[in-house]
Amino acid sequence: MRLNYIELRNYRKFERIKLEFPDGLVGILGNNGVGKSTLVESVSWALFGNQKEIVRTGKESIRRSDAPDNEPTFVKLEFRFAGDEYVVTREMSGKSLSMDAKLLINGHVVATGANEVTSLVQEKLGMDYKSFFISVFARQKELNALSSLTERDRRITIVRMLGIDQLDDIIDNISKYERGSRERTSDLRSLLIDEGGQPKSKILESSRSELEKEATALSKEIESMRGRQSKLKEEEKDTEDRLSRLSEKLRGLREAQKLLEKDKRMHDSRKERRDQLEGEIAEARKAAEEALSLPELNSEYQTLKKQTEQQISNKSKAERLKEIVGEIEAIDQEIAENREEIEELSESLEKTASIKEKADKTVEMMKASEKDLVELRNEKSKLDQQMTSIEENMNSEREHLSQIEKLGPESVCPTCERPLGDHYEHLMEKMSSSMKSSENKLEEIRIAKEIAESEINDRAKKMEALKKRQEAIKREEMALQQAEHSMKAASKNIDKNSRRREKLVSQMKSIGEIEFDSEKLSSQESKLREIEKRRDRLIGLSTIAGRLPELEKTFKEIETELKKMGEKIESVRIDTGEIVKLETLETELVEKRKELKKKSEETYESIVGLSAKRESISAEMKSIEREKKSLGEIEAQLAGIEDKQRSSSKLLEIMKEFRKDLISRIIPTLSQVATDLILQLTEGKYTALTLDEGYNIYIEDNGEEHRLERFSGGETDLANLCLRLAISKVISERAGTEGMNFIVLDEIFGSQDALRKRNLLSAFNALSRQFRQIFLITHIEEIKDSLSGIIEVYEDERGVSHAKLTA
Ligand SMILES: Nc1ncnc2c1ncn2[C@@H]1O[C@H](COP(=O)(O)OP(=O)(O)OP(=O)(O)O)[C@@H](O)[C@H]1O
Ligand SMILES: [Mg+2]
Repeated sequence: MRLNYIELRNYRKFERIKLEFPDGLVGILGNNGVGKSTLVESVSWALFGNQKEIVRTGKESIRRSDAPDNEPTFVKLEFRFAGDEYVVTREMSGKSLSMDAKLLINGHVVATGANEVTSLVQEKLGMDYKSFFISVFARQKELNALSSLTERDRRITIVRMLGIDQLDDIIDNISKYERGSRERTSDLRSLLIDEGGQPKSKILESSRSELEKEATALSKEIESMRGRQSKLKEEEKDTEDRLSRLSEKLRGLREAQKLLEKDKRMHDSRKERRDQLEGEIAEARKAAEEALSLPELNSEYQTLKKQTEQQISNKSKAERLKEIVGEIEAIDQEIAENREEIEELSESLEKTASIKEKADKTVEMMKASEKDLVELRNEKSKLDQQMTSIEENMNSEREHLSQIEKLGPESVCPTCERPLGDHYEHLMEKMSSSMKSSENKLEEIRIAKEIAESEINDRAKKMEALKKRQEAIKREEMALQQAEHSMKAASKNIDKNSRRREKLVSQMKSIGEIEFDSEKLSSQESKLREIEKRRDRLIGLSTIAGRLPELEKTFKEIETELKKMGEKIESVRIDTGEIVKLETLETELVEKRKELKKKSEETYESIVGLSAKRESISAEMKSIEREKKSLGEIEAQLAGIEDKQRSSSKLLEIMKEFRKDLISRIIPTLSQVATDLILQLTEGKYTALTLDEGYNIYIEDNGEEHRLERFSGGETDLANLCLRLAISKVISERAGTEGMNFIVLDEIFGSQDALRKRNLLSAFNALSRQFRQIFLITHIEEIKDSLSGIIEVYEDERGVSHAKLTA
């Protein structure tokens, strides 16, 4: 790894710097607190981000105290690694200090986002920040980081630094796998054994064979039950057949018995009908005898009927004549009344001419009156106009007069508009006399107007009287019209009644003289009723007698029928004793069938119960089979795992052996490199620096090895530095020239005397073959000459730091 370039913005004391890193032994120089350590720390921040060891107190502490809010804290690092050019940028911005990062390899973006970039950097460099600090970045006061660790941690750290941890990971994984598979096999084995330690498969086998025995026994029992049931069924069928045959026979017998009874009932009913017919025939014969007198009675009846009808006709004619006479009398009366009315009305109609005359006269008078009234009203309106004009005239004259009176002789003539002067008196007189004559005229007109008004009133009253008179005349005229109308109606009625009278008289004539005796009629009617009754009875009897031939025929037919039926009944014989016997047998068979059915059902239920039991046994057996199968699967699985376990144990052994071998070779290498360094740095005082299996440091003094604790602080520091440099060298050599070939050493001179400082510097020069860049952070100016490059770090007057390459 070679650092090429760094750019910082608002990173701790640095506001904005850009710096190229040179090759060789480079001093980072400056006073205390100017930011030397910060500069190199920023390299690790760019690579690994906010790790606790990098940010010191917290990520916010990285941000420059006076940085403006809108500017981010930013680091850009360019470096070369394994032949590739890397550019990593990382920044922190905003109030929440949100992180972002980007990684470019050979100009291509390969990762973005803070965590993604850190992960990829770790993967590519093959080290995390912890390894980075221990291997290439020896931080201030952390030189003895390795020696101060516990033995275990030191081993872990060195192993990780040397990349042996990957091997350890593999060994760990195999061990973990072994442990896991051991647990798994013990779990699986426990599944094969029950609580009592017995193998489950054996137990399963024995319960299976017991169940099998039970199942066989059950099958046998079911078989025998089935045999018994089929026998019962056969017997049941036989009984059923017998019963059905018996029932058939019984049904036939009962049917025959029923038919016989029906025939007997029929015979009885026919017999009854025959007896009834006998009675009916006797009755008809008797009726026939009586009905012989019917023709004689019939002729008597007809004669009497005719006579009576004649009498009834006479009766109605006489009644009609009486009615007509009454009607004629009423008509005569009405005609007389009408005539009287006509006489009266013609008297009043004589007034018609005089009323007409009166009416015409009244109209004439009304017209004359109307004319007078119009003329009077015109006259009155003329007088009104005259009065108004005179009054208006008078008013203007009065006004004039009062004006002239007010002004006196100075007044102006109303016509010529010249001052009046001497004419004043004359004018006044003239105007007063004119006023007087106007007043006289007005008085005349007022009188004439009063006369006209009184005449108008008279005429209006007269007009009113005439109107009333006209109305009275109209009423009289209407009464006359009414009388005329009534007269016409009365004469019309007389005509109508005369015509009706004539008709009635001719009706009377056509009826002629009539003789009628009501007593005779009533005696004839009662006799007729009596004959009618007798006649009706004889008609009834003759109807009865008419049925005789038919009755006699039916009688004969029934007689023949009865004879036949009697013969049929006689021929049928039924043994009732046998029916009773058969019925008893039927009851017995029904009972037997019931019994058999019950037994068969019971047997069936037993079979069902036994079958269910057998089913459950077979289910149990199946579940045992399943269990056996799964046990078999477990056994196979177990065998597979055990097989793999054997292989992995072997692999683990090999890996451990390999690791041991690797370490056994690395420890001498490290010891060798460290020995070379300590020899050089102490100018042969200490002849060896060795490590044991636990990576404990030993120093050889005068041919004798001592633990590091025996030596002084400066010597311990030196030994640690040697070991660190040895590790870095081994790593760098292992990675080749493009590997980790830079180191940073922060204030390592502190505890060393002048000679050792010199020796250290020459040792670094010698190391330049392995490390392309060695950065020495120090405030010791005196080493300047031994450096090939200097980065100067300094603070300006604002307290902001800067860094620049000066040589
Ligand atoms: N966020 C920050 N903003 C400004 N200054 C800061 C910030 N964080 C730390 N500092 C200052 O930076 C300085 C520390 O810088 P650094 O440790 O790099 O000094 P140094 O040059 O290594 O000193 P020394 O020679 O003593 O080791 C201290 O003065 C510290 O107060
Ligand atoms: Mg420092």
